[in-house]
Amino acid sequence: MSSAPISIEPAEIEAIKAQALKAISEAKNLDELKEIKIAHVGDRSPIAKANQSLGQVSMEQRATTGKLIGTARANINQAFDDRERDLILARDTKALVEEKVDVTLPVNRRHKGALHPLTSLRHEIEDLFVGLGYQVAEGPELESSWLNFDALNIPQDHPARSMQDTFFIEPLDAGLVLRTHTSPVQVRTMLENEPPIYVICPGRTYRSDELDATHTPVFNQVEGLVIDKGITMADLKGTLDLFAARIFGPDVTTRIRPSFFPFTEPSAEVDFFYNGRWVEWGGCGMVNHKVLEACGIDSKIYTGFAFGMGLERTLMVRNGITDMHDIVEGDLRFSRQFGTGTR
Ligand code: PHE
Repeated sequence: MSSAPISIEPAEIEAIKAQALKAISEAKNLDELKEIKIAHVGDRSPIAKANQSLGQVSMEQRATTGKLIGTARANINQAFDDRERDLILARDTKALVEEKVDVTLPVNRRHKGALHPLTSLRHEIEDLFVGLGYQVAEGPELESSWLNFDALNIPQDHPARSMQDTFFIEPLDAGLVLRTHTSPVQVRTMLENEPPIYVICPGRTYRSDELDATHTPVFNQVEGLVIDKGITMADLKGTLDLFAARIFGPDVTTRIRPSFFPFTEPSAEVDFFYNGRWVEWGGCGMVNHKVLEACGIDSKIYTGFAFGMGLERTLMVRNGITDMHDIVEGDLRFSRQFGTGTR
C-alpha cells in the first residue's frame, strides 16, 4: 500500500468526542441510547472509523494520534456505560412505582353475574331437543282461557279451572288467565303450523299454591309435542328415556303409568328411576284426537304425543335440593353453588 500518509488533527478527535458525549448525555431513554450507540460508539461510528484509519497516519504521528483516539474512545465508552446504567435505574424505579400493588386496598367484592341453575337446566333441555330436530316454541304467560282450557278439551266444570288452581284475570268475562301449564303453546303451535311438528315449549306457569318446600305459585314447565304420521306411544317412551338419561345420567330409565288428562288419550304419568327409587316426573300421553281436530289437524292422518314436566322439580331431584324456597328466593349463597357469581 503506497498511498500518502494522512494526518488526523487532535481538534478533529476532540470534536468527534464532544459530539458523542453530547448525544449520549441527551439520550432520554434506552431506546434513544440504542440509536446513539450505533451512531457514536459502534463499529461504524466516527471514532471507530478514525481508529481504523490510524494505519494511514505517518509513523511519527501514529503513537500520539493513537493515544488521543484511544483516550477519546475510552471516554465515550465510559460515558455510554454511565448513561446506560442511569437510564436502566430510572426505568426500573419508574416501573416499581407505577406497577406497585397496594395489598391493603379493599378487594372488589362485586360478583360476576351468571345464569340461575333453573335457566341453565332449561338451556340444557333446549340443547338436547334442538339436537333432535325440535324447535323451541314460546307463548304468552297471560293466556286466553280458551287456549289454556277449552282447546285442550278441559271442560268448563273441570276441577283444574276452579279458583283454587287458576289465577283468573279481572274482568272475568275477558276470558284471560295466567296460564296454568305450557300446553296452550302446543295448541298455538298446532294452529299455526302444519304437521310434522316437533316442538318443546319451556316457560313460566302459574297456579294458586302457597310457597312451601315443594310448591311455588310461579313455576316452570317444559312440554314436548310431536305430531307426525305413524307416531305411537313407543316413540313417546323412547323420547322420555332419552330425555331422562341426558338430564339425570346415562343409566336412568323411565316408566309410564296409566293416568288421565283431558288433552291426551291414552294418558300416563311418567316416573324415572333415580338413586334407587321411582320419582314422579310429569304427565304425558297421545294427543287426544279432539285436540287435534280443534286445531285443524286431521286425526285420521296424523297422531302425536305430548309430555310435560316441571323444571323446578327436575332440578330439585337432580341436584338434591330439598327446599323450593332455595330455588325461588334468589339467595346468592344458593346460586353460587352452581357457579353463579364465580365465573
Ligand atoms: N299439561 C299437563 C300439566 O300441566 C302436563 C301434561 C303435558 C300432560 C302434556 C300430558 C301431556 O300437568
